[in-house]
Amino acid sequence: MPIHTTPNGWVLETRLTAYAFGLNAAGMLVHRYWGPRLPRLEDYSPAMDSIGWASFNGPGEIVPEEYPAYAGSKYIDPCLKVTFADGVRDAVLEFESSQITGSELQVHLRDAHYPLRVTLHYCVHDAYDLIERFVTVHNHGDTPVTLERAFSAQWHLPLHDQYRLTHLAGAWFKETQIHREALRSGSKVLESRRLTTSHQHNPWFAVDRLEHRATEDTGEVWFGALAWSGNWKLTAEVTVFGSTRVNIGLNDWDFALRLEPGTGYTTPTCVAGFSGQGFGGASRRLHDFVRETIVPHGNAPHKVLYNSWEATTFNVNQASQTELAQIAADMGAELFVLDDGWFHGRRSDDAGLGDWWPDEKKFPNGLSPLIEQVNGLGMDFGLWIEPEMVNPDSDLYRAHPDWVIHFPTRTRTTMRDQLILNLARTDVQEYLIASIDGLLTKNNISFIKWDMNRNVSEPGWLEDSEPKSIWVRYVEGLYRVWGTLHQRHPSVTWQGCSGGGGRADLGILRFADQIWTSDMTEPTMRLQIQEGFSQLFPASTMEAWVTDMGPKHLPLEFRFHVSMTGVLGVGANLLHWSESERLEAKRLITLYKSIRPVVQEGDQYRLRSAFESAFSGLMYVSKDQSEGVVFAFRTHIPDPELLPPLKLRGLEPEWLYEIDGVSGARSGAAWMHVGLGVALSDFGSAVLRIRRVDGSG
Ligand code: GLA
Repeated sequence: MPIHTTPNGWVLETRLTAYAFGLNAAGMLVHRYWGPRLPRLEDYSPAMDSIGWASFNGPGEIVPEEYPAYAGSKYIDPCLKVTFADGVRDAVLEFESSQITGSELQVHLRDAHYPLRVTLHYCVHDAYDLIERFVTVHNHGDTPVTLERAFSAQWHLPLHDQYRLTHLAGAWFKETQIHREALRSGSKVLESRRLTTSHQHNPWFAVDRLEHRATEDTGEVWFGALAWSGNWKLTAEVTVFGSTRVNIGLNDWDFALRLEPGTGYTTPTCVAGFSGQGFGGASRRLHDFVRETIVPHGNAPHKVLYNSWEATTFNVNQASQTELAQIAADMGAELFVLDDGWFHGRRSDDAGLGDWWPDEKKFPNGLSPLIEQVNGLGMDFGLWIEPEMVNPDSDLYRAHPDWVIHFPTRTRTTMRDQLILNLARTDVQEYLIASIDGLLTKNNISFIKWDMNRNVSEPGWLEDSEPKSIWVRYVEGLYRVWGTLHQRHPSVTWQGCSGGGGRADLGILRFADQIWTSDMTEPTMRLQIQEGFSQLFPASTMEAWVTDMGPKHLPLEFRFHVSMTGVLGVGANLLHWSESERLEAKRLITLYKSIRPVVQEGDQYRLRSAFESAFSGLMYVSKDQSEGVVFAFRTHIPDPELLPPLKLRGLEPEWLYEIDGVSGARSGAAWMHVGLGVALSDFGSAVLRIRRVDGSG
């Protein structure tokens, strides 16, 4: 039983960790403990009482309130902010009751005066050492209530310590760069105001102690991620009284939701955990959770794909695609993806978006003849779409100019010549469901790449009684469209893309099994982008193509090895590859297929960071620890240089293991403590399989 009710509150226990909170003497719901699981329920600290303070401080600065609403003298960053119909902007939440159903705890709070109920939900994912939180706010009154902030959770770190925040920041072409910085007095804010999760920041955090820094393998790390694909906000606040908290949820910038009488709102969820095994331990918990509980097709193998975008861009037709498909099939690709350019009027990026039927000139008999040829070559067929977008030069826009997000008196700013359809509108949702459903019903399509290639501007939705709700209603509309298509076509695999990694989050992974990590495919840059991505996402969600991007001296093998650490794909113009390059590609794709189960389903260990050194490495180990695969990469290091041994991880110390091409079996302990010597020259790489050889367990 992972949830315990104790005289002073609740204790949520997972395999190795515990989280406790309860009511203090003043009736405040207060955080008590988050860390390693302790032997006895009485071991967890009691709820802290409000202590004396000057008239210039509020209780929230000292007492770690579990879900503070803005009220009274709370100067801290609150979770909830509301305005009642009479203009009162102060929400006094009092404990009402609690309820445990299986592994979920609900704590019901109620405003002291108004019929507003707030329920805190805690789902305990015992086996993953994770706790998932979300909140429902319900208006039981007969007048509307306006929500001006409704965060998913506030996470408190142990009091009186100093912390360091690790987060992911970047830009288009340079996503998921790892940043680490000390948290000092005041607030650090990370957010998206772009309608999507954003290339710039990701709603994920990891916090460790400033003095006792965690490493990949050791030390205490508190971490979490928000499952939301729209505007979000994270504030890491340090009060002058030594209280550090991370507040996370929907962005409250330009935000309002109107709760009509009798209605409610449920926030996105935030999943978080504590790792006593450093940053690597934190990532592995999230990887398992994503693979086993979030993505639609679980641990089903992800196919090696070929995507024709870089080869043919918008100039697609049956002949050009068939030619590429034949080469791709010979090399061992299992899935052929026809990218942009195939639909009505799509001559370049300035026309066609919105008209989701095959272009009559390029595909006079529709897509079926090409799909049959691709299937005949033994490959599945995949298709690119960008449903949320419309070009002004399209039949859809000419018929429904009011369907885009806009302000009537302002210019409709185009980016890449496109505008954004307002997915908050039901008629837009229905149009998209019908057109994509039609495509999937008429054609044997196994895979869809769902793209989204711009950020928002002029975020108007003036028809609605609360136009500022567009940020939330748009994402709900997106989830509805995608969810409906998913239900109707459950065997289709979806790829989430937003000009690369602009919409990578745990929310979109409920629909998309894999994510297009970045439009940047130059492999040395990719090493860093992929390392950042791996902080929260498993390799099975990380689509990685081999292309011709980057300097000519980068060996094909190096490019393949980088992509083989995730879901391998090829995106280069195969017509430019020589016969010997195609043969080498075939050999590497065969190798990938043999290591695919351990890469896609195993535990990942980052051995040496590509952010810290030009010699980096990572490995994957099967869940039963009987086999693994080690990847090593050297970019440019001036010679002479003796590369240090790679200290392997995740092996059973007592068992004997052999590594491809290395003579002699050694114990797991030896590989982990003495390490593996890898000789690499500049832009050299290695993929080495490791296997247990001493038989019985
Ligand atoms: C985006 C994607 C690319 C490609 C193009 C097509 O940039 O990230 O992979 O699909 O759109 O227009």
